[in-house]
Amino acid sequence: MRPPATEGDTPYIEFHDVEVAYNDLVSGLRGVSLKVDKGEFLFLCGPTGSGKSTLLKCLTREVWHTAGTVKLAGRDLGRIPSRDVPLLRRQMGIVPQDFGLLPNKRVWENLSYAMRACGHTRREVRRLVPEILERVNVLKRADAFPRELSGGEQQRVAIGRALINNPPLLLADEPTGNLDPDQSVEIMELLVQLNVRGTTILVASHDMPIVERFSQRVVRLDQGRICSDDCRDEPSNDSRGIEPSAQIVVMETVDA
Ligand SMILES: Nc1ncnc2c1ncn2[C@@H]1O[C@H](COP(=O)(O)OP(=O)(O)OP(=O)(O)O)[C@@H](O)[C@H]1O
Ligand SMILES: [Mg+2]
Repeated sequence: MRPPATEGDTPYIEFHDVEVAYNDLVSGLRGVSLKVDKGEFLFLCGPTGSGKSTLLKCLTREVWHTAGTVKLAGRDLGRIPSRDVPLLRRQMGIVPQDFGLLPNKRVWENLSYAMRACGHTRREVRRLVPEILERVNVLKRADAFPRELSGGEQQRVAIGRALINNPPLLLADEPTGNLDPDQSVEIMELLVQLNVRGTTILVASHDMPIVERFSQRVVRLDQGRICSDDCRDEPSNDSRGIEPSAQIVVMETVDA
């Protein structure tokens, strides 16, 4: 058991009293405070509409928090200029709840397009795309368009695309939402392997059998508030062998 981040430590991710008001009537998050250490694996659970996706989207700056602070690697995400947000996102693996695949591009193109946007050479793309598709078990469908895939296959492609940069942080929104129980276990095992190699992982999930089986820290949300955080933690960093290739580099902001 690793103790939760304490006063004095700099947590990797820190939410302090975060509110997200979508409008006058709808709140996404209310007074959320949360610390996540580097290398942790955390499940976000809670009923539909409880704020799981909203919390993840605060980290990608898809959603603006309307009060409080959100920090990643010590940087205040509320102070990052919009022009630097694409750079921020390229350093995370993001698996959105709706997969976010490009409908007019084939499976392999969905990955190659994202890799080229991140500056990989054509040669790297040719080497890595089949390797990643094999890893998430959809290599046979490399030439298909997303509409020709099952929900589970689309989910695997979305996870593959999130892995292209060997990201230090992976945010997965319901990554087993469309998978059968065996496939769900396989995908979760893949995420656990990434975590053992040092990737910090946040998974929003309704899939309670999976959450219980994988026995990681669980933060429960209800109506935008954290209602429990069991801080069940992973082995210490000492046992983690390989560091992910890149560390999050969040741009310094210049005060106006
Ligand atoms: N873009 C938006 N505009 C207005 N309200 C929104 C928006 N996105 C989410 N909400 C509202 O914010 C609340 C939290 O939504 P969120 O999507 O974070 O929940 P969730 O826990 O991810 O739910 P689910 O399990 O169904 O995915 C809900 O009441 C939702 O209707
Ligand atoms: Mg959601």
